[in-house]
Amino acid sequence: MRLKGAVVLITGASSGIGAATAVAFAKRGAKLELGARRVDRLEAVAERCRKAGSPEVNVRRLDVSQSADARAFVAAALRTHERLDVLVNNAGAGWMGRLHQMPEDRVDELIATNLKGVIATTQATLPWMLERRRGVIINVASIVAFRASPYSAVYSATKHAVAGLSHALRGELSGTGVKVCVVYPGVTAGTEFFAATERPVGPQYPASWVANLIVRTAQFPRRDAMVAPIRAVHLAEPVLGGLMDHAIGEARRLASPQLGGTGVPRS
Ligand SMILES: NC(=O)c1ccc[n+]([C@@H]2O[C@H](COP(=O)([O-])OP(=O)(O)OC[C@H]3O[C@@H](n4cnc5c(N)ncnc54)[C@H](OP(=O)(O)O)[C@@H]3O)[C@@H](O)[C@H]2O)c1
Repeated sequence: MRLKGAVVLITGASSGIGAATAVAFAKRGAKLELGARRVDRLEAVAERCRKAGSPEVNVRRLDVSQSADARAFVAAALRTHERLDVLVNNAGAGWMGRLHQMPEDRVDELIATNLKGVIATTQATLPWMLERRRGVIINVASIVAFRASPYSAVYSATKHAVAGLSHALRGELSGTGVKVCVVYPGVTAGTEFFAATERPVGPQYPASWVANLIVRTAQFPRRDAMVAPIRAVHLAEPVLGGLMDHAIGEARRLASPQLGGTGVPRS
């Protein structure tokens, strides 16, 4: 896909991977529709995108956990541009701790944000894309969609669900010209995803890497995408599976006072 002048919708663009993705698309000359709940933060990202080369950037308050809000976000973008080329479902929420201690409202929030939000924006987008027989939907999952992470049971479940939803939809859309791809980030620096006391130990890579992977996936939407070190972990999985479970669980426990560890300060 040619990105110059393309209309790209990004949910969760007020920080982290979403903000970096907005700037990466802006550098290729795409027109942007940015959504999140913190509009002041979106405005700052929009300014960076204009400076980076985007010919048009609009920001809209969006709570993807509210399906009506998610549908309205897509509808507003369509009214503005009468066109829609790429949807990046990036907005996401996490919660770390033991499953039996997870409050029900946080369970609901994760499912509504990470899964129902993706469903709502996708449902709103598909009729237009199907009619024109073109368009790319990119869903940001996580490495935990492969290797479910201890102390993140519900988060892991929602990301498995996003991958499952995407793969089922890909089959359903076969031959229509509309593509669905999944991007699987690992632990990513420069995001607000982890609370200071939860930041995991171990290797991380910058949000700009994930952003570039998302842009590349929009240009060549042939398959799902993983940042290279994550691919290595995935390939090692059949051999190292049990050990990885233990290592990830221990690292998380040690990193989090909530789980009895001492905490890892935000760098
Ligand atoms: N950071 C990592 O290590 C990592 C690893 C794997 C996957 N991921 C995934 O990457 C995606 C982006 O996260 P991030 O790492 O960039 O973390 P982040 O910096 O915390 O960004 C999360 C974004 O999602 C938005 N968001 C959260 N709830 C929302 C809601 N109900 N409605 C609309 N927007 C909402 C936030 O904006 P507002 O608060 O302004 O609404 C923010 O822009 C998520 O799907 C996450 O699961 C992250």
